[in-house]
Amino acid sequence: MSHKIVSKKQLSEDVFTAEIEAPLVARARQPGQFVIISLNNDYAERIPLTIAGADPQKGTISLIWQRVGKTTAEMAQLQPGDEIANVAGPLGNPTDIELFGTVVCVGGGIGLAPLLPIAEALKARGNTIISIIGARNKELLILEEEFTRISDELIITTDDGSYGRKALVTEPLKEICQRDPKPNQAFAIGPAIMMKFCCKVTKEFEVPTQVSLNTIMIDGTGMCGGCRIEYAGQPKFVCVDGPEFDGHKVNFDLMMKRLNAYQDMEKKEYERFKKGKCKLGLDQ
Ligand code: FAD
Ligand code: FES
Ligand code: MG
Repeated sequence: MSHKIVSKKQLSEDVFTAEIEAPLVARARQPGQFVIISLNNDYAERIPLTIAGADPQKGTISLIWQRVGKTTAEMAQLQPGDEIANVAGPLGNPTDIELFGTVVCVGGGIGLAPLLPIAEALKARGNTIISIIGARNKELLILEEEFTRISDELIITTDDGSYGRKALVTEPLKEICQRDPKPNQAFAIGPAIMMKFCCKVTKEFEVPTQVSLNTIMIDGTGMCGGCRIEYAGQPKFVCVDGPEFDGHKVNFDLMMKRLNAYQDMEKKEYERFKKGKCKLGLDQ
């Protein structure tokens, strides 16, 4: 069954959002879950994307994606009325939405997309939400309006100071952890390096921290091993054991090494795609 794109919007130079027909997923999904899509049945690769929102009545889910390589660029070219061949999900375990008290939600770059449904659910559960939303520059900052709506306190940072405070997200995070009382819980979602350093800060202050990991995924069912991480010294599969984990127990250095394992091939495929002749290496 293919899935029609109902609407599509560009959020920034390289970030897009679309509403996609997927009635069963829209009805079943919970915050923290994701889908694995493939754009066509002609050897298209499978990529995981978080379900950013859903309208069960309309039978649609919304996805937000950043154009970083071949598949996300191909997806950016799709228009309302076009179809995505396969949308598998909802996958992964839903977020444990508890009444923690004060929760600091830290999101970086495209990590703000998976963070939003979690922060919304935490707010609806009655938590006080302090959001720290960051990006490299103003142009790359997304979902400001949505985070403003659900946050009791909002801090914006950019690496270059083009908007909000010129800082990495770890700087205000440290200040918030130093408050008395300190936050009861943290959620950090973004590039692996950002999550690693957020966890370093929160560990120092003993603030429990959940991260949502963006490892490479292929099948999404625990069979291929693509998403394997080291967690508390043990192997775990992000697709079935996650995607959320206690960030203080994740071996981020190993995760980053595995994330970059195919970079040369990915770059080559993107270049071939931009030249208009990509078939994922099959026509070499
Ligand atoms: P490529 O050039 O092929 O890859 C660029 C980089 O993306 C790689 O170096 C690698 O780090 C990563 N990547 C490549 N292939 C995969 C793959 N099959 N699975 C996972 N990562 C891969 N991105 C978003 O923009 N929005 C989201 O909501 C989002 N949610 C995610 C949820 C989960 C659970 C996971 C694991 C990842 C999520 N991602 C999300 C990351 C997204 O899957 C990658 O950006 C995408 O696969 C890149 O594909 P590409 O062909 O365009 O780029
Ligand atoms: Fe294959 Fe997780 S994606 S085991
Ligand atoms: Mg790819």
